[in-house]
Amino acid sequence: MKYLFIFTFSLLASLSSLDVSSAKHTTKQPTQVNFSDTFKKTKNLVLGVYLNGELGQYGLKLNQQTNDGLKHAISVTGFEAKAKTTQLITAPKGSDFNQILLVGLGDKSEKLAERKLQELGGSSVQAAVKTFNSNFQMAFDLNFQDAAQIAYGAKLGSYYFDKYYTGEDRIKHLKDIHFVTSDAKAAKTFFKEQLNPLANAIWYTRDISNEPANIIYPESFVKRWKKHLKGLDNIKITVFDEKDMLKKGMGAIYGVGRGSKRPPRMMVVEYSGGKKGDAPVVIVGKGITFDTGGISIKGSNNMWNMKFDMSGAASAIGTVHALAGRNAKVNVVGIAALAENMPGANAQRPGDVVTSMSGKTIQIRSTDAEGRLVLADGVYYGDITYNPPLLIDLATLTGSASRALGKDYAAFFTRHDEFADRFIAMGKQTGEEVWHLPLNKNHFKAIENKVADVMNSGPTAPGASAGAAFIGTFIRETTPWVHLDIAGVAWNEKATDLKASPGSTSYGIQLLNGYIKEHFEKK
Ligand code: BES
Ligand code: MN
Ligand code: ZN
Repeated sequence: MKYLFIFTFSLLASLSSLDVSSAKHTTKQPTQVNFSDTFKKTKNLVLGVYLNGELGQYGLKLNQQTNDGLKHAISVTGFEAKAKTTQLITAPKGSDFNQILLVGLGDKSEKLAERKLQELGGSSVQAAVKTFNSNFQMAFDLNFQDAAQIAYGAKLGSYYFDKYYTGEDRIKHLKDIHFVTSDAKAAKTFFKEQLNPLANAIWYTRDISNEPANIIYPESFVKRWKKHLKGLDNIKITVFDEKDMLKKGMGAIYGVGRGSKRPPRMMVVEYSGGKKGDAPVVIVGKGITFDTGGISIKGSNNMWNMKFDMSGAASAIGTVHALAGRNAKVNVVGIAALAENMPGANAQRPGDVVTSMSGKTIQIRSTDAEGRLVLADGVYYGDITYNPPLLIDLATLTGSASRALGKDYAAFFTRHDEFADRFIAMGKQTGEEVWHLPLNKNHFKAIENKVADVMNSGPTAPGASAGAAFIGTFIRETTPWVHLDIAGVAWNEKATDLKASPGSTSYGIQLLNGYIKEHFEKK
């Protein structure tokens, strides 16, 4: 009886500590975007203006209503309307607005790149929220694609994560943004079919990546993504638990998971929007829901950032979400290799040997080099199950990559160098940039071992390259494979035009969505 009581009590205590914070606090729905070709009723206006005050049709209309008042107001401020600059003016008499936030579009004859338009949308929505709260609409007299790109940037720019902040001064969530543009119908369709699914996927990915590790652990990661994937067509989800892992011989991911009370999972999301029988592109993500380092424990400084160590997995599933959301004609599989790296009593030790699904044995040199271990089974499973025409892995893998490239580039590795230029170009286009780092024979030599087939660190090689080589060891050399080390870029400490708070960048979704669209999608 006494034992039953203690058992029940401790069970209840542990359950409630898992759930208490998630119950009360709900996530915000992604900002909705609407379009029309005429003004609706709002107190304030955000208005796009070309260089030296040149106006589009909405500006001209207002100018007429106000007896040249708008042009006058613009000229007295000296606003030049260079791209991305803003200027707040009191709405001239005769208009229905209180205030107008002018947004510079630059020279009318110069086309702004997609990414620039998005940033312009993001920065202007952030400025508008600061000055107007939610009472505004945005008018941009542009072609429908450019207008939709601004709207997309505005939606991303309104994202911020403050789920557990209960202070009175918290920012009110922007539920919707209204866009006024001349070709509203086409803008709306293009936005809805192409850009909104991407923005929603990014929104959910950021939400999951930003959650603390007491909320997102392997099982809850799966549960959360299942909820978001519901309702999308051509999706099949399979989840392996620890028993499945043992049955399949996935000793590498199992070994990382065993130090935690929260068991590991492998989530496989198959999206079949392409031709039946076409081998899918496979994206495998590192999903360490918290990385303490395990028995090779990390220092306490900034360890809290290791809640982001599942960002690769979140972006892998997020990319599939985006592709499915826009009904892309392509087959893609996202694999999340999920475990919590904890130094529990049952944790693996340095020196331990585990057998991966490939049959290759691995000597654990550091339990803190755990990402490559969960990926060893993830990429092997993806490679032999699907024979992918391209296998991509995304991982917050090494401090080394982060120190080398900082916040500006993910580290790019491949055995198939012809992919480098294509990824670099797509990185520039989408703003999720990559830098090509070397992967050569010496890096594979550095992880050779005599006790087991391979070891999980390569002290004589540069850290990021040794990590890449380890992952490559579990993929057939004939399979086109690209490794993205996103340790530096998966999160940052500041707001940017395309996100209003610090934290997850959801890096990889725009890059891979763009890459797959250009190289694999049937039009
Ligand atoms: N998750 C870390 C890498 C990391 C560090 C990402 C800092 C972002 C910021 C990874 O699991 C790790 O601990 N890597 C070790 C590998 C080493 C033990 C071979 C590293 O980079 O120090
Ligand atoms: Mn680690
Ligand atoms: Zn890690």
